[in-house]
Amino acid sequence: MGKSATRTFGILTSGGDCPGLNAAIRGVAKAAYGMYDMNIVGISDGFRGLIDGEAHLMIPSDFSGILTRGGTILGTSREKPFKKNGAMTDSTEGRSKPEAIKENYRKLGLDCLVVLGGNGTHKTANLLKQEGLNVIGLPKTIDNDIYGTYMTFGFHSAMEIATEAIDRLHTTADSHNRVMIIEVMGHRAGWLALYSGVAGGGDIILIPEIPYSIDSIVNHLMRRERDGKPFSIIVVAEGALSREEAKLSKEDRKKKLKKDNIPSKGYALKREIDKASGMETRVTVLGHQQRGGAPSPFDRILATRFGTAAAELLYQGKYGKMVALEGNKIVAKPLEEIAGKLKLVPTDHFLVQTARNIGTCFGDD
Ligand code: F6P
Repeated sequence: MGKSATRTFGILTSGGDCPGLNAAIRGVAKAAYGMYDMNIVGISDGFRGLIDGEAHLMIPSDFSGILTRGGTILGTSREKPFKKNGAMTDSTEGRSKPEAIKENYRKLGLDCLVVLGGNGTHKTANLLKQEGLNVIGLPKTIDNDIYGTYMTFGFHSAMEIATEAIDRLHTTADSHNRVMIIEVMGHRAGWLALYSGVAGGGDIILIPEIPYSIDSIVNHLMRRERDGKPFSIIVVAEGALSREEAKLSKEDRKKKLKKDNIPSKGYALKREIDKASGMETRVTVLGHQQRGGAPSPFDRILATRFGTAAAELLYQGKYGKMVALEGNKIVAKPLEEIAGKLKLVPTDHFLVQTARNIGTCFGDD
């Protein structure tokens, strides 16, 4: 085996946590340390730790025994060193945050920075690449909305949690003849609602990519009642939009939410269904349950594969890339191809079609 291009690298987790982060840290670290003898610097709390120089040299006991542990042993934050338009954020102690990052990168003797994160993280990673740093990204998020990869780690675990919750709602909905609304996360994408909705047998699935009409929803609920099914389950993505809302600008949508004074989409939907039908409805907002606990076996495997692939890139000195899943292969995509793009559910996605084929309503017919 030839000499490794990377002697020392830093590793951080950034953005919202998800199951599988520790499995991925373990994957990178075990392969980089065990196979290539690299030094690993663990950076605390995402980019905030790199700005403040909060870091420590990791030893094998740090990355052993963490495969099944939820959360992240490194801590995370939503710190964004660059503004939305790519400009550097205000200075800390006379320097901009990216300047502080570059200084600490040098001080810590890093040859590369490995970042585990979502869309925001990969945008930052690409900007740091443009600033001359070597960066490698690993795609994590329960939202599965990172461009360039078929799946992110964290998504499968969250889908399992949401599916179990839908299963539990089924029995109580059945007993009481109620309409149960379950709101799942997903940010601006409908992946989690679509997959858990199909897996949990949701009767109506509402995702941001397919704006709904309340008439379509109520008609479907009434049709089910006429067919002798007096209870229904609605799986709604937190970012789902009615046809009217979809026409509004982002700012006007925010204003409307504030004016309506409704905590979240699930409750907004309840109000609309109550008004239009008088059916008995209940709302469950699953929230951060979806991000907690041990990763599913699928996520453990995916995170380990991503981690070891990242170690291989470090060894070869192939920087400036994000590891991604394409078919059943792990590939590396240039960060500039990924950054700033969102992977939404195509309206003709095979699972949307499958669901429609079994009579699932998306609120658009
Ligand atoms: O991106 C992951 C995610 O859980 C989204 O699904 C959700 O919209 C958001 O993060 C919640 O963020 P926070 O943990 O900051 O409340």
